[in-house]
Amino acid sequence: MTSHIDPITWPELSPILSPLAADILTSSASLHKWTEEYGSPLHLVLPSELNANVEGLRRVFDERGVGHAIYYGAKVNKSSGLMRAALEAGAGIDVSSVYELRDAVKLGAWGSGIVATGPAKTAQFHDELVRIGALICVDSPEELTDVSKRLPTDGVEQPVLLRLQPKGHEKSRFGMAGETVRACLSRIAADDRFRFDGIHFHLSGYRWQDRAVAFEEAAKLMEEARAIGLSPKMIDIGGGLPIQYVSEVAWEEHLLRQRADDYRTGKVPASFYPYGGPQSAAAWLSCFLDAQLSSGLTIEDYLKQRELTLAMEPGRSLVDQAAISAFRITRVKDLGGGDGVIFVEGSSFSACETWFASEFMVDPVLLRQNDRARADEPFRGYIAGHSCLDEDVLSNRWLGFSQIPEAGDLLVWANTGGYQMDLLENEFHRHPMPKRLCVTKSAAGQLSIYPDN
Ligand SMILES: Cc1ncc(COP(=O)(O)O)c(C=O)c1O
Repeated sequence: MTSHIDPITWPELSPILSPLAADILTSSASLHKWTEEYGSPLHLVLPSELNANVEGLRRVFDERGVGHAIYYGAKVNKSSGLMRAALEAGAGIDVSSVYELRDAVKLGAWGSGIVATGPAKTAQFHDELVRIGALICVDSPEELTDVSKRLPTDGVEQPVLLRLQPKGHEKSRFGMAGETVRACLSRIAADDRFRFDGIHFHLSGYRWQDRAVAFEEAAKLMEEARAIGLSPKMIDIGGGLPIQYVSEVAWEEHLLRQRADDYRTGKVPASFYPYGGPQSAAAWLSCFLDAQLSSGLTIEDYLKQRELTLAMEPGRSLVDQAAISAFRITRVKDLGGGDGVIFVEGSSFSACETWFASEFMVDPVLLRQNDRARADEPFRGYIAGHSCLDEDVLSNRWLGFSQIPEAGDLLVWANTGGYQMDLLENEFHRHPMPKRLCVTKSAAGQLSIYPDN
């Protein structure tokens, strides 16, 4: 089958692509073959990219000689292949449910190679974490009580972190104010079944500057813990490291130029993920380590001086470039005046930003089914899913094409691994769940696929 790639002509937020992602995205014949065989949408997972992302962060730590613990935030994607890649890269796993925990254990994770940072753990989840000696991040005094009820009395210490709700983040329901952390420290100091490993926080947003401020508060609590006889060894800054999906220039220009008319809703969404941010995750980490504390020490110097480990649970940034999602077009409906709706096989539950009143601001690539000559005919379309819900829209943005797409063509999005592809997926209308396949490239340049399990 021959095929042709037709870039979106407007608004031109073309994805930044790793060499492997570019190879897959331009392998039109393979993508058509695979969607024919496995259905649409089809999620392709690239485990080697996750490995490279762990390496990228580790290089920053190693060059500076900072002790570190990178836990892959498994919530970001349901792929086992990605979890396995994290373990193969030597990362730990951050689990937020008993099911993520069981998958991690099945793949070989154990003990303090697992951290559980989620706030609402069930008794069963606590039991299984305790059984393997995983690091439990305690969100509240109530959770500390619950964990203490489940601890054995066999002399084995249970490692715990306490989750701080840093000053200025009081609206969050997660973590504890400094005063409450202090009260928990006293309780832990009085109970020899616990081992206090350190302070954790996770902030929404993506600014290293906010984490540096919170780090200072965490560091003070670490000193207080030492003063009452505890021996913590890590400060854990959670996730929130960025992905650069599109170029910074294209992104800034787009934000300046976009208008309400660019959306079929007639409204520009109130907020977006910073798709064209200025920094890679590694650059972000360097800035964080260089941030100065009020003592005059940088965070890097403070960690080294106190011989502390910097722990983190990046989710999104570790799956940068690690997934691609292909949707087959079922029909293009003419709305007149060069506008139309492009219906795809699959739904916005596999491309979920519109459900958060925002947009995935990365243009898809149109892979035509064949090279049959088509007349150039400028066309503008938004992309709708196959369900009966009016809001089942993958892109509210009008996307420009030089030729009208046709049934059987594919729309392919790069970089869908970070929450995008499977956070909301379901079997609405009894459509089966989309398939996920892992893709590798041989030394000879051959792409091959295997099931993601
Ligand atoms: C406690 C905690 N840690 C880590 C993460 C991962 O964040 P990100 O995917 O932005 O790196 C989250 C995400 O919600 C979280 O709640």
